[in-house]
Amino acid sequence: MQSYTPHSVTEAVLEQMQSTGDERLKTIMESAIRHCHAFAREVNLAPAEWLKAIEFLTRVGKTCTATRQEFILLSDVIGLSTLVNTLHDATAVEEATSTSLLGPFFREDAPPLPIGEQISKTDKSEEILVWGSVRAATGEALAEAKLMVWQTSSAGVYDLQEGDGSAVDYRGTFRTDAAGQFHLRTVRPLGYSIPMDGPVGDLVRAQRREGCRPAHIHFLISARGYRELVTALYFPGRYLETDVVFGASPELVVTETTDDPEAPVKGLSSVRFDFTLARAGSEDAAGGRVGADPGKLG
Ligand code: BEZ
Ligand code: FE
Repeated sequence: MQSYTPHSVTEAVLEQMQSTGDERLKTIMESAIRHCHAFAREVNLAPAEWLKAIEFLTRVGKTCTATRQEFILLSDVIGLSTLVNTLHDATAVEEATSTSLLGPFFREDAPPLPIGEQISKTDKSEEILVWGSVRAATGEALAEAKLMVWQTSSAGVYDLQEGDGSAVDYRGTFRTDAAGQFHLRTVRPLGYSIPMDGPVGDLVRAQRREGCRPAHIHFLISARGYRELVTALYFPGRYLETDVVFGASPELVVTETTDDPEAPVKGLSSVRFDFTLARAGSEDAAGGRVGADPGKLG
């Protein structure tokens, strides 16, 4: 037995955890305790503040449902999801298109569509063309690569946020052709606010942040033998610099043009992006998605 000081309690906890059987759990928890205790010492955490944090995290947990994951949203707004993404990117066996957040609006069941199809069913605003290719790092075209695509309407709303959330819109699954090319029609997405009606929204408001994401189209691209790519293409405009979840990066910003001579469909404003996949490595068996369908989480 001993009496504790702000430093000796940290050593005592680390000492007691030495018996941990799983080596990786031991490494993670030792570091977590060191950093957590150092943080409390650094800010001289008061009992009332400690309790406020407990209440906040309790509310975050209670806000989670089968369609909403408030803990992932918290991770997103504090940049932890992007940090984990960048750490995962660094384990790729070769350079590929950089990743971006999966976000909470991904669904496994986007309908398979033929190349060229319009993914917006109800929103009849100006049609744009999104086209490009999927390639290996060597430049080799990847035929039959699967692209799952999802985005907001031109009003900045996902299908899951409309009505009772059961309609499937602004999303689809495409396959590249023999030359590794794809193209699809859509409507121009709009930047939007993350869900602000929960504890994470309260935090973002208290920090006087805008709570918004720039306009983007999500892509989840897979091909046998390659690392799955979770990314998004961003449109120039509002919130690019202040993306509340730190998903936007310069290499993923696209340029829209009305006169691309190479575009596979003429007369539409078009956006081109050529995606590069890294070959799958030993890190990829465990998967690399920083996010999940909330209904599938335990
Ligand atoms: C999204 O891109 O859809 C998103 C990502 C993180 C938090 C909220 C929304
Ligand atoms: Fe999104």
